[in-house]
Amino acid sequence: MLRGKSLSCGYFVMTGRAGKGLDGRLTEYGDRGFARFLRDAFLKAKGYGPEALEKPVVAICDTGSDFNPCHATAPQLIEAISRGVTMAGGLPMVFPTISLHESFSHPTSMFLRNLMSMDTEEMLKALPMDAAVLIGGCDKTIPAQLMGAISANVPTLSVAVGPMLTGSREGERLGACTDCRRLWGEHRAGAMDAEDLEVAQSQLMASHGTCMVMGTASSMACVAEVLGFMLPGGSSIPAVHSERWRHAEASGRRAVEMALAGGPCPANLVTEAAVRNACVTLQALAGSTNVPIHLAAIAGRAGIRLSLDELDRLGEPVPILADLKPVGRVYMQDFHAAGGLPALLRELAREGLFDVETATADGRSWVEVLEAWPEWRDGEVIRDLGNPVTEGNAIAVVRGSLVPDGAVIKQAAMTPALRSHEGPALVFDSLEDLHARIDDPDLEVTEAHVLVLRNAGPVGAPGMPEAGLIPIPKKLAATGVRDMVRISDARMSGTAYGAVVLHAAPEAAVGGPLALVRDGDRIRLELDERRLDLLVDAEELERRRAEWVAPATPVRGYARLFATTVEQADRGCDLDFLTGLED
Ligand code: FES
Repeated sequence: MLRGKSLSCGYFVMTGRAGKGLDGRLTEYGDRGFARFLRDAFLKAKGYGPEALEKPVVAICDTGSDFNPCHATAPQLIEAISRGVTMAGGLPMVFPTISLHESFSHPTSMFLRNLMSMDTEEMLKALPMDAAVLIGGCDKTIPAQLMGAISANVPTLSVAVGPMLTGSREGERLGACTDCRRLWGEHRAGAMDAEDLEVAQSQLMASHGTCMVMGTASSMACVAEVLGFMLPGGSSIPAVHSERWRHAEASGRRAVEMALAGGPCPANLVTEAAVRNACVTLQALAGSTNVPIHLAAIAGRAGIRLSLDELDRLGEPVPILADLKPVGRVYMQDFHAAGGLPALLRELAREGLFDVETATADGRSWVEVLEAWPEWRDGEVIRDLGNPVTEGNAIAVVRGSLVPDGAVIKQAAMTPALRSHEGPALVFDSLEDLHARIDDPDLEVTEAHVLVLRNAGPVGAPGMPEAGLIPIPKKLAATGVRDMVRISDARMSGTAYGAVVLHAAPEAAVGGPLALVRDGDRIRLELDERRLDLLVDAEELERRRAEWVAPATPVRGYARLFATTVEQADRGCDLDFLTGLED
């Protein structure tokens, strides 16, 4: 990892403003006394007495929205955080930002992640506050909030809404969204009728909260905890458990301590050691393939370049210790009952794989937290290194002539026989082309084919939708085929599984090699060698490159800003002018 320019701690320091609490970030009227007088007048109109106006201010970011069912408990969390702030002598002030939900963001929530990070950053810099508590959870919200918080560099805590509880159907536990995809696959293959599917649908999300497997939401909550943004143990508490409200209350109390102390600030938390810890944790959890993108963007805001190869290298000695879906058997509520994230980190720390000198959100180092954490753990759910769920790193990085800047694959969640595979390409030129042809009974495809989807990357789609889990063509699914090698410049849900190579960089829409593949070209995946190659000679590829035409650039608005400044997946898909990196 490379460290770029550094950020100083504290927005007040950065801007030279001395004001604390409601005296901070005064509106510019050319008269600071008047600005404070007017601010107080408005707050008195809202019912605040003089004592309240002198307290340290803890801002609470509300991302509740009718369009974000995962965040349905935001009002109760705000109440609990506010209670903690008030009990500790602070003044809680609630403010909204954009909220993103996976199923309510067209074309994809990833397109809007950077906009949410800008919204968060600018509100953290504009509003008078001494510390902030950000309520996040659904996939892109925590990354967006951490990116914004690092750039604003205001003392910040993250409170996740927490994972849903599981449902059940005819004795089978069901959960979002690994089972959503599995059951939909069964339905596509004709093995489950629409009536049964509808019955199962009502059990897939049995409570409020985020998807309760080790998908992107759970993975990012764990990353926030490891980096020191979330109180220890907070990532896995179920959304509707009373412990969640006590955790929120404690977060409010801790935020007041941070407000009074003026730190720690986010840029001090996101160190190279903390980022390495996040990589190791991701591998041990077999977490979401989306995390490398979000972690690269988060680290980038702090001036640290996350290397995909280092993510892979760090994972080599790290077996999968959490027996969680989609790779394992159980769900987040079981992980929490088994001891939670600190119990897993302690196993990593015992073997020297986790740097315990890094900071936690409660002000202690991880060594202090892990020593004090209850000794008991359920060894079936949170394994030790002598009895892992599987050996080897969960997420691997491949390079080669098809993906010179890298691509990722969740090797723990694929059919082992496909680790070494060569086959002819079947190319889908866009999402529309995929939708139009994938289930065509006349599609010429065998299970040896390598399915390629392009123009679904950061610029191409735009926003890199979770379309990388290219469906098994219906005619093959009906014969029992459940996995094939699939390659794209898209992402896939952290809850998904299969021999799916994702985040091909550079993407097709900027002229990456994926743009040059044609039906029938041979593609070879050699996972043990970390290679993915297009077996076409260089002369032919140059000829094709000369014929390639770049897609049109959007003419206005955020779409234009995004298309003209978004970085490639290996660099975190941040907008290039937002990162803290020097090149
Ligand atoms: Fe919100 Fe899965 S859709 S966490």
